[in-house]
Amino acid sequence: MSDDRKSQLCAIEDEIGNCKKCDLYKTRTNTVPGSGDFEAEVMFIGEAPGQKEDEQGIPFCGASGKFLDEMLDSIELSRDKVFIANTLKCRPPNNRDPEDSEKEACRPYLDKQIELINPKLIVTLGKHATSSMMPGVGGISKNHGKALRRPNGRTYLALYHPAAALHNGGLRETLLEDFSKIPKILDKLDKTKNENKNEDKNNIKQQKLV
Ligand code: URA
Ligand code: SF4
Repeated sequence: MSDDRKSQLCAIEDEIGNCKKCDLYKTRTNTVPGSGDFEAEVMFIGEAPGQKEDEQGIPFCGASGKFLDEMLDSIELSRDKVFIANTLKCRPPNNRDPEDSEKEACRPYLDKQIELINPKLIVTLGKHATSSMMPGVGGISKNHGKALRRPNGRTYLALYHPAAALHNGGLRETLLEDFSKIPKILDKLDKTKNENKNEDKNNIKQQKLV
């Protein structure tokens, strides 16, 4: 990765650290810009920091993060090889749902991170991240586990949120099964990338890959 892209990603983190674009700055302890490899092939996007994340400034460092680590381990990935972020960089008080105005204010940071990291696959965790990143795609119960290439040329996989699966044995099994598809999807993306070398970028329809 070029030093320029790296310094741009660091500059975004600094900007987030001073951000007052929505009222969540008033109640945060730390901002949680995201963490991991700036050259990651896979980027995970959760909802928003919870209490532990707000205390430590690191995404998914509580109970659902532990489960996420286990799932990464099961496909021989780890946190330092992927990038993990959230739709909001600051914790909503009492973990309430993100408001549309907050998501809108915070979105440019995430968009810029995606542009600079340029992951092969974006994995959305839970309904909030899924509806933010794939507007119009419909509910997560219908779309989980399907890799979709969207009209913007990027490929997304929606998964249930690890926190939801922690309290529901059935969802846990489904999440583990969906998660295990990630290596297969990455493999397939390598091939499709080659096949589509000369494809007109504006002409890519939403396409189911796995
Ligand atoms: N849940 C999320 O969506 N994100 C975190 O960082 C932690 C818990
Ligand atoms: Fe800024 Fe996002 Fe934090 Fe709101 S949630 S203050 S937009 S960094």
